[in-house]
Amino acid sequence: MKEIKVHLSTQEKAYNIEFPKDFNSLDERLLKQISGRNFLLVTDENVFEKSPFFNSKVRSFQSPTLLKNILVLPPGEIYKTWETVEKILNKAFELNLDRTAVFIVIGGGIYGDLVGFAASIFMRGVPFVQVPTSLLAMVDSSVGGKTGYNCTQGKNLIGAFHQPETVLCCSKFLETLPLEEVKNGIAEMVKHGILTDSSHFENLEKLSKTHLKDGDCTELFKLVPDSITIKKQIVEQDEKESGIRGHLNLGHTFGHAVEHLSNFEIPHGRAIAIGTVMATQYAAERKLCDWDLVDRIENIFNQFDIDLVCDFSEKEIFKAMEHDKKKKDGKIRLILPKKIGKVEYFEMEN
Ligand SMILES: NC(=O)c1ccc[n+]([C@@H]2O[C@H](COP(=O)([O-])OP(=O)(O)OC[C@H]3O[C@@H](n4cnc5c(N)ncnc54)[C@H](O)[C@@H]3O)[C@@H](O)[C@H]2O)c1
Ligand SMILES: [Zn+2]
Repeated sequence: MKEIKVHLSTQEKAYNIEFPKDFNSLDERLLKQISGRNFLLVTDENVFEKSPFFNSKVRSFQSPTLLKNILVLPPGEIYKTWETVEKILNKAFELNLDRTAVFIVIGGGIYGDLVGFAASIFMRGVPFVQVPTSLLAMVDSSVGGKTGYNCTQGKNLIGAFHQPETVLCCSKFLETLPLEEVKNGIAEMVKHGILTDSSHFENLEKLSKTHLKDGDCTELFKLVPDSITIKKQIVEQDEKESGIRGHLNLGHTFGHAVEHLSNFEIPHGRAIAIGTVMATQYAAERKLCDWDLVDRIENIFNQFDIDLVCDFSEKEIFKAMEHDKKKKDGKIRLILPKKIGKVEYFEMEN
């Protein structure tokens, strides 16, 4: 079988997103990546403890010489802070890394963003390799070079654009990923389908009727390269988000408001699914799309068993949206769907 690769080319860097078929191939790819270079590998406790990539004895990274270069940190959005970035930088100093070193992150979007950011500032920037382990990180956060952390003023408000050297996306990680986390990734895949590609949406629709009943992600993973390709095409056109990259925020203005109001009890993917339905309803109310589109989008999330129940009032949600950083000239800019495969900007009336 021909090996799949997605090539991403930005002003900063051109690189491949590769799909090693199993952990042995991933292991080999990583060893190649660190050959002749010093490195720091960061992961989170869940991935370290649950994934056979780390707990099987055949992995090279079990050897004491390589094990000392691994930093295992606690999971969760509350750790997406400057203090964690500092821990990563301190470990790099402890290992005597210099500008010729490489950082590797094996984890979900949280550590992908944190390690990418640490790599962007360590010695004014060293390369990093992303090994996404959650579906969301595979299709979304590891594509496009946005890195950063949260501060008291808000999520991801401090960061840098720093493209990885390569991304190694291995389906085997999905075998230990909790079902709720799989659903978070599906919400972003559905979003990609709505943005530009009706065939991707239709493929997800077909899958939604049969899939996930037994938690097997094999069929779902076959759609991951398409989802990545949609995001990479957008990033290639607008690396620093001055135009079309903003389309990726479909469902996010409403979704972030829901996330905030729930005190982050509602996870990101579910909040985005709720936000996408709200954005579509908002568009239909203004005759920018048909009500059938609302039904179709609601239906796909329901089929995937993504809970769309949200107890916040319209007033509460609009108030929470005021804090969104995607404002322009004091006005909130929404991305609204017109049909599957087409969205457009819309300035909210006050
Ligand atoms: N940089 C970007 O462009 C971008 C885009 C979207 C989201 N994000 C960021 O991504 C983050 C969310 O990413 P996420 O949903 O991957 O969160 P996450 O990193 O917290 O991972 C989700 C959960 O799954 C666990 N996990 C991950 N892989 C596992 C595996 N293979 N087996 C078992 N458990 C596993 C993690 O420990 C965690 O508990 C947010 O901080 C968001 O801001 C960034
Ligand atoms: Zn998102």
